[in-house]
Amino acid sequence: MCGIVAYIGPKDATPFLLEGLARLEYRGYDSAGVAVAGRTGGIKLRKVKGRVADLAAAVPARFKGTTGIGHTRWATHGVPSDANAHPHLDNAERIAVVHNGIIENADELRAKLTADGAVFRSETDTEVLGHLIAAHATEGVELEEAVRAALGKVVGTYGIAVLDAEQPDRIVVARNGSPIVLGIGEKEMFVASDVSALVRYTRQVVHLEDGELATVRADGFRTFTEDARTTHRQPSTVDWEIDSYDTGGYEHFLLKEIHEQPGSVERTLGGRLDERFATAHLGGLNLDARELREIRRVKILGCGSAYYAGEMGAQLIEELARIPAHSEPASEFRYRNPVIEADTLYIAVSQSGETYDTLAAVQEVKRKGGRVLGVVNTVGSAIARECDGGIYLHAGPEISVASTKAFTSTVVAFALIALHFGRIHDLSPADGRRIVSALKALPDQIREVLAQSDAIAGLAAEYAGSEGMMFIGRVRGYPVAREGAQKLKEISYVHAEAYPASELKHGPLALISPELPTVALVPDDELLDKNLTTLGEIKARSGRVLAVAHRRPETKLADHCILVPKSEPELDPLLLNIPLQLLAYHAAVALGRDVDKPRNLAKSVTVE
Ligand code: AGP
Repeated sequence: MCGIVAYIGPKDATPFLLEGLARLEYRGYDSAGVAVAGRTGGIKLRKVKGRVADLAAAVPARFKGTTGIGHTRWATHGVPSDANAHPHLDNAERIAVVHNGIIENADELRAKLTADGAVFRSETDTEVLGHLIAAHATEGVELEEAVRAALGKVVGTYGIAVLDAEQPDRIVVARNGSPIVLGIGEKEMFVASDVSALVRYTRQVVHLEDGELATVRADGFRTFTEDARTTHRQPSTVDWEIDSYDTGGYEHFLLKEIHEQPGSVERTLGGRLDERFATAHLGGLNLDARELREIRRVKILGCGSAYYAGEMGAQLIEELARIPAHSEPASEFRYRNPVIEADTLYIAVSQSGETYDTLAAVQEVKRKGGRVLGVVNTVGSAIARECDGGIYLHAGPEISVASTKAFTSTVVAFALIALHFGRIHDLSPADGRRIVSALKALPDQIREVLAQSDAIAGLAAEYAGSEGMMFIGRVRGYPVAREGAQKLKEISYVHAEAYPASELKHGPLALISPELPTVALVPDDELLDKNLTTLGEIKARSGRVLAVAHRRPETKLADHCILVPKSEPELDPLLLNIPLQLLAYHAAVALGRDVDKPRNLAKSVTVE
C-alpha cells in the first residue's frame, strides 16, 4: 500500500527519493510523487499517475533540493490521478505533505477549511493536512508546533512527512497507526514507511511509536509526543541482509522467496528446539507453564494467507496439545462484538505486522482484557508491539505481494507453539521427539520439492489455460487447498475454488468438467482411501485430476501427480503446500502476469 520516503542532508534528495520509492513499489500503488525544498527557495513538486519510472521520467534535471519527501499512493479517497497523487500542497505552496492512512474526519475539516478560504485541488483526505498545517504555521511558529496543532484536530490513522519551504532545514514526521522509520546517516537523515527503502543507506533506525512525532534535521532528530513531551529513543540495528531486497538472479522475488524456504525455515527453528525434553523453547511468549495450563481455548486471528496459516496452526495445536483451537479472519472478528474469555489465548498472525484489520482485532481483544500473542515476521512492527508476547518468524523480508516463505515459517512457528503447549499438557516424550525430528528434517524435504520446479512448470503450462481450478483436501489438507487456491487466483488471476474433499458431492461436484481441473491433496494418512474414492468420483465425471501426494495414485484416478516427501502426519500440510506455490508461480509466468505485483493488490493492507 502507500509508501513514504524523505531525505535531509548535504546531497541532492531526488535520487534517494526516487530509488526509495522504487524499493517500496512491491507494496502496491497506482501513482507516485516527490517534492523538494532547497537553497533556491520554494517547493518543487512532481507527481504522476503510474509507476515510479514514469515519475523519474517526469522529473527534470533541475529538480534539486537538499530536503525532500516522496510517496507512492494506493487509491482510497479518489481515483488514481496526477491530482490525487501525493505530495499535497497548501494554497501558498509553502507546505508539502505525504500521508499513509485515512483521515476519518476529512469531510468535516475540508468544509471548515474551505469556508476559511482554502481551495482544494484533489479528492483526497490527505490534502486537508496541507491546508490545516499551513493554517497553523503562522509567523514565528516552528513547523513541529504547526504539525502538532494540526494533528490535534485530526481523527484517523496516519504516517506523515511534512516539508516547509520556509523551514527547509527540517522535516517533521508523525505516526499514528501507520509506520514511520527514521534512518540515521552520517550528517544526513532518511525517513521511510518501511526499512526496505533505506537499508542501503543506513542500518541504524528508530521506529516511531503511535502518537509520536519527530523533527528530523541533517545532523539528528528529536522525538516528542502529541502533547509536546520529549521522548528518548535509542536506535536499533536492522539485521536483514541487503541482498534480501534484490531478486538475486531469480526472475522474480516470488521465485526467490519460494527457493529461500529451506533457509527461512531453519531460521524460524533456530535455537528453539530442545531435544533433551523433546519440546520447544519460546521465551518470547511471556507465559510460564502454570499460565499455559490454564488456557482452555486458542483463537487465531489473521487475514488472507495469514488466516489460512492460522488454520493449519489451529489443527497443530488441537492435535499436539489437545486444546480446542480455531482460526478466524481478523477482518470479520472485530465487527461481531466478539466474546473475549479470560481462559482463551488469542494469537495474531501477520507477515508485515501492519495489517490494519489484524491490528484492530488485537486492539479489540486487549481493550476487553484478553491476552494476545503475535506470530509476526517484521520486527518492531505495529502488531508485534501491540501484542503481549509472541514469536518472530525470522523469515527475512518478503517483497513479493504473494506470501510464501512467511506462510511456511508461520506454520513452523505454530508447530513450535503446539509442541511447547503439548509437552506442558499430555504430549508424550516419544511424540515430542517424533515432532522435533520431523521439524529438523523439513529444510531438506523442502529442497526435494523445490528440485521439481521445472516439472511443475510443465504442469502449470498445461493447466494454466483452464477456465478455473478446484482445490480439494480433507481435514489437514483443507487449509492447504485454501492456500493453494488463494495463491493461484492472486497471482495468475485464474479462478480457483477450495473445498473440503468431503463436501464435493454436496454441491461443487456439479462444476466438475474437463475445463475445470482439480488439484487434490492426497497425503498417505488415515484418510487416503476416502481421498482416492473422491478422485474416482471426479474422474467418473470427466474431471481432470492433478494429485499432490506421497504415493502416485493409479493412472485411472489422477492424470498427473506431484510427489512430496512424507513428514509426520501433523506436519505434512506444510510440505504439501510447497508445490502449490510453484504451480501458482509458473501458471502466472505462463500467463504473462505481473507476478510480484499482481493487479489490485498491495503487500500490506494498512487501511480498513
Ligand atoms: C498473501 O499471499 C496475501 N498477499 C495476503 O492474503 C496476506 O497474507 C494478507 O493480506 C495478510 O498480510 P499480513 O500477513 O502482512 O498481515
